[in-house]
Amino acid sequence: MNGLINQPVDKPLMTDYPTGKPYEVIKMPLKGKIIGRQILSYEEITSTNEEVLRLGRGKKCEEGLVVIADAQSHGRGRHGRKWISPPGVNLYFTVLLKPFLSPEGATILPLMASVAIVNAIRKYTGLEASIKWPNDIMIRDKKAGGILMEMKTEGDKIDIIALGTGINVNMPLSMFDNEIRPIATSLKEEAKRDIDRSGLLKESLNQLDYWYNELLGGNRDAIIEEWLRMDSTTGHEVMVQILAPHRETQRQFTGIAEGIDERGCLIVRLPSGRIEKVSAGDVTILR
Ligand code: BTN
Repeated sequence: MNGLINQPVDKPLMTDYPTGKPYEVIKMPLKGKIIGRQILSYEEITSTNEEVLRLGRGKKCEEGLVVIADAQSHGRGRHGRKWISPPGVNLYFTVLLKPFLSPEGATILPLMASVAIVNAIRKYTGLEASIKWPNDIMIRDKKAGGILMEMKTEGDKIDIIALGTGINVNMPLSMFDNEIRPIATSLKEEAKRDIDRSGLLKESLNQLDYWYNELLGGNRDAIIEEWLRMDSTTGHEVMVQILAPHRETQRQFTGIAEGIDERGCLIVRLPSGRIEKVSAGDVTILR
């Protein structure tokens, strides 16, 4: 394990990237910000989300701590899925947050993160990234990244939030599992060049800090508006699958996606004309 990134570490971290640029670029914690005040970097870890939840319980870490890993042995995806996390190619990082929000109010946070990450990808790479509800990072209808929020509560209050981001940066298609290859992509596959992970990470943390401050300043509407501007779901016919705890489909229906409400629920107009609001599930865009 390696220590806080602004303290001495046992050995250099994450050097010799394919792009030749190490993570040391962000060795100095990002000053004057909430997100990135403290950065912990690991060569390999089970899951950066798991580590943030563990560290946050100790109460020693302040809000804004970022845990980054070059590889995860047990990367977690939404709905209990695995997140493939090989070394040397992608970004895996999690931010520790302790906002004064109710657990219900926190549903905006993964949407906020997707807005921040899409902005970072667009700005840093020029790629036309978009969001598929709720917070899949898409390029040309293929998934290039995702957000996983995990929360510990005490009574009806939030204790810790782990807001994790995985971005497929320089991973070649050949490294994806067979079943996800047709629906996944990486920034390198799309841009046809290597993308510097350190630079993209720094831009992502800056964007997360900007949008988190908007939220703390009460500007939820700005986040929803920006999400809708980047959204590739609204206006399409979608199939919604509501999943049970073991991922079996509990309910499935189709309809037209009409946007999101103030909590981030997807608004779907059913063929009968009735409106259904979806708070959690998988969405496939049909046309
Ligand atoms: C999804 O299924 O779309 C969400 C994927 C989130 C993956 C990231 S990688 C960093 C962080 N640590 C994890 O174990 N998962 C998230």
